[in-house]
Amino acid sequence: MVFVMTENVNWFPKHMKDSVDLLKKNLKAVNIVFEVLDARAPLSSKDMNIDRIIGQKAKIVILNKCDLSSDEGNKQWVSFFNKGNTEAALVSAVKGDGLKNISNLARKVIIKAGIKHKSIRAMVVGIPNVGKSTLINYIAGKKKAKASNKPGVTRFKQWIDTKSQLELLDTPGILRPGEDKDTFLNLAFIGTINDDVLDVRTLASDLIEKLVEIVPEELCARFKIDINDKTPLEIMENIAAKRGCLLKAGIVDYMRVSGIVLSEFRKGKLGKITLEYPDC
Ligand code: G4P
Repeated sequence: MVFVMTENVNWFPKHMKDSVDLLKKNLKAVNIVFEVLDARAPLSSKDMNIDRIIGQKAKIVILNKCDLSSDEGNKQWVSFFNKGNTEAALVSAVKGDGLKNISNLARKVIIKAGIKHKSIRAMVVGIPNVGKSTLINYIAGKKKAKASNKPGVTRFKQWIDTKSQLELLDTPGILRPGEDKDTFLNLAFIGTINDDVLDVRTLASDLIEKLVEIVPEELCARFKIDINDKTPLEIMENIAAKRGCLLKAGIVDYMRVSGIVLSEFRKGKLGKITLEYPDC
């Protein structure tokens, strides 16, 4: 069985391409930026141009989806950003974990930057799917129609948390990640890149290869398989057999087993997994 190579397809949604201009315009209205990253792959989900785009504006990093990333990874990434003089917070926007401290952290950064405004006026920025709208909705304390990634007209001061005097811009800024192969693969693994533009069998095989390297025990435990001396394809076939993903005459249903591997990883069923660690 030969799968198509995972190509670095042009996946970034067309309607988001003008988003940086809008972001720059909206920046003028805020005194701090909340840069949201996916805690499972903070580097891959980062736009390396962010600091150039926001200039001197104060910033905190929000490592979102920390309910899906490893405790060790979380610790190392917070320390990495702190060493670079950036405050970082571990957050799960779906659960609300870590969000109580956000305004305190933002206030600390604003005071340090010598900004005199009483209110924290924040803008949430990040690449697609890192959880920007979930975060805004949680802080705003209400459900909002999901129009998150569509750059639109700014309606500043929509939501005010009076207790902490946190004003959030309701339009998140959309950023673009890098385009190298590792970044692309990590973003595909965590589901940022829509599976429709990828060969999911190749992607699942690539993910298995990565999991063998970083969390072999979790892989064996979840699928109750032995991975010793096996290729990713053989591992996939073992998982297919365990999960009954077989077509007539015992032929492996690669599409189905690939969907299982990707979906269970993304839902955290294999455990809390960080795909990349800082180099320090
Ligand atoms: P975006 O605005 O940055 O594009 O991201 P968005 O908030 O739309 O979130 C993208 C997906 O990530 C959503 O799942 C959302 O529920 C999920 N998500 C956001 N924050 C967290 C988090 O802290 N932990 C976990 N586990 N998931 C998070 P979805 O499946 O695309 O949509 P839905 O099923 O929630 O509607």
